[in-house]
Amino acid sequence: MRTVDESVQAAAEALRGAQRVVAATGAGMSRESGIPTFREAQTGLWAQFDPEALATEHAFRQDPARVFSWYAWRRKLVADAKPHAGYTALVTLESLVSQMTVITQNVDGLHRRAGATDVIELHGALDRFICVDCRHPFLSDCVPMGDGTASLEPPPCEQCGAAIRPAVVWFGEALPEAAQTAAWHVAASCDVMMVIGTSSLVYPAAYLPRIAGDAGATIIEINPEATDLTPAVDIACLGAAGTILPQIIEAAEA
Ligand code: OAD
Repeated sequence: MRTVDESVQAAAEALRGAQRVVAATGAGMSRESGIPTFREAQTGLWAQFDPEALATEHAFRQDPARVFSWYAWRRKLVADAKPHAGYTALVTLESLVSQMTVITQNVDGLHRRAGATDVIELHGALDRFICVDCRHPFLSDCVPMGDGTASLEPPPCEQCGAAIRPAVVWFGEALPEAAQTAAWHVAASCDVMMVIGTSSLVYPAAYLPRIAGDAGATIIEINPEATDLTPAVDIACLGAAGTILPQIIEAAEA
């Protein structure tokens, strides 16, 4: 088994020989920016909140203010957060390879805020909204942020009067079609995929490394913990994204 430093050097070597790179990110990518993950014991969102009561359209229709207020709290958390050095490192990587795409399960928009130019948001985004009935889209400037603690009623859709909901993928919902098609295409055609900060338990996103690996890509995982994916990756960097990514990109630049 490689040491962390040997894994970092091996990852840098793989990137140096690559043209098309994908970073497939999950909640752990934002952990060091102060945004909680989902499945970690004690601190994960799903350890503290019931997903059935907050992340389904059924829950929203039953109690729109409860669900809307929880998402307003998460928007506030994200608005107060800043992308860390790992985000900047991924942006730097854009200048080292001919194609660099981020495919993220995260809804926090931190890759966009860090300046990443090609970002596929598989699970939607907290700063976008749609009408729960007619699906008319709205941007966040039409929707109050709140202070993250008050109970907020969702505003009505200006087209049909139904409630506006966050444009994120809830349990039981399909991924946005254009995002899924684009993600599957870049996964199947990349040379290197970095899988960063995801438990790799949620499908269809968890298929992405399998698709890339089957097509011959080198798979690098960056995560402080081993996951179900770890036995299938080429290079496992056991560590935090905010530390390991800058090390890999610096070594790839050298
Ligand atoms: P999880 O909470 O399932 O997994 C987070 C992963 O991040 C774990 O494997 C941690 O070990 C790892 N991690 C923690 N800190 C880290 C750090 N500093 N650097 C790198 N990795 C770190 O989150 P996801 O896999 O993203 O879906 O969850 C997938 C989906 O499940 C989410 O998009 C969400 C949730 O239900 C929807 O809301 C549709």
